[in-house]
Amino acid sequence: MVLDDPAAKTIFDTAPLRAQFPALRVKPTPIFFDNPGGTQVPMGVIEAVGAYYARSNANVGGAFATSQRTDHVIADARQAMADLIGAPDPATIVFGASMTALTFHLARSFGETLRPGDEIVVTNLDHDANVTPWTDLAAQGAVLRSADIHPADGTLDLERFQAALTPGRTRLVAITHASNAIGTIPDVAAVTRLAHEAGALVFVDAVQYVPHGPVNVAALDCDFLACSAYKFFGPHVGVLYGKRAHLEHLTPHKVRPAKDTIPHRWETGTLNHEGIAGVAAAVRYLASVGELWAAPLVQSHIARGETPPRAALLAAMPAIKDYEAQLSRRLLAGLAQIEDITVYGLTDPERIEDRVPTVAFTWPRLSPRATCGYLAEKAGICAWSGNYYALRLMERLNLQESGGAVRIGCAHYNTSEEIDTLLSVLGETPRLGS
Ligand SMILES: Cc1ncc(COP(=O)(O)O)c(C=O)c1O
Repeated sequence: MVLDDPAAKTIFDTAPLRAQFPALRVKPTPIFFDNPGGTQVPMGVIEAVGAYYARSNANVGGAFATSQRTDHVIADARQAMADLIGAPDPATIVFGASMTALTFHLARSFGETLRPGDEIVVTNLDHDANVTPWTDLAAQGAVLRSADIHPADGTLDLERFQAALTPGRTRLVAITHASNAIGTIPDVAAVTRLAHEAGALVFVDAVQYVPHGPVNVAALDCDFLACSAYKFFGPHVGVLYGKRAHLEHLTPHKVRPAKDTIPHRWETGTLNHEGIAGVAAAVRYLASVGELWAAPLVQSHIARGETPPRAALLAAMPAIKDYEAQLSRRLLAGLAQIEDITVYGLTDPERIEDRVPTVAFTWPRLSPRATCGYLAEKAGICAWSGNYYALRLMERLNLQESGGAVRIGCAHYNTSEEIDTLLSVLGETPRLGS
């Protein structure tokens, strides 16, 4: 469908994109609103995984063709990830099993640098994968501080965050780039600036931001950033970026014969080569969105000196963000018209820029789990309920005891018709005037 809202900055036609996803061509087509739990995969990714097995399947570093092709596949994917997140150097991209595994791995090494009394700040907005790896370091003597949200709108309380910093003592701040439960995008650049002023490093969990907006680790100046390819249309592979100096100076736990240069020293065991082939294809898919729907912008980024792949991504992600903002507006406006629904997080249409299209709500007619069952039965809607591992947030919003909330998480392949179907199943045809 094409969104023709005059306020939309981009005409974004989902049809040619949806056509690339086999899961979106199944009849009857499910409505995938479970995207924060994992996105669907375009044919290019599926083919890249298959092609790896067919042509390149080997271990790395050998003196023969399939091994050399494997080395090339991995190098290509590192460059693709560097392009996607604006990393200056592909050697700063580490692959691993998952964001969670990579974060525990890094935290273990980071923890060994702590002195008694050093402090760590986590937030109430984060997925537990960016909480427990750090709070576990209390065992090494770390003092834990936590940054709260404004519960009324689910935004990070920057003043309280600042108060949680102790200059000279805070060693690390762990912050999400977007909440996986309620969609809030905190001001990561401001958090990073304040953390650096206090002498702390910053670890950004960008798992839920990468599919929805442009990431630029150089501009953010964060020390680490992690994401997960299955949340951005790729396979189940985790990705960690770290500033070169940190990846070189921290000491990873590794087997002795493994290379001690970056990024290899952080990559424990044999990687998921076929998945990594798919990561590069997922990034190429995203770049193709820029070439398809924002070609003039691609050219202007190239004219400003960006490489063509980065230029295409720099054009694609704002186009996706604009389109998804339209979906968020429609969804939030429709939910607001359903009498007994409570939405958690930012609902102000003026602040759509500060959220991704992930919306959590409760509906007193049914429990969150039963609501998801009802949506699945009535309209083939895939949606999650519960805490989605955003445990602190659900506790803070007093939802943990009552089964959490229903989460509707859109991606750029969702349509306004799908949102209208959801809204009508929830009991009311939306009156949105468009
Ligand atoms: C915000 C956020 N961080 C981290 C994770 C964990 O990612 P992974 O499954 O790659 O460990 C998730 C998964 O849902 C997430 O939503």
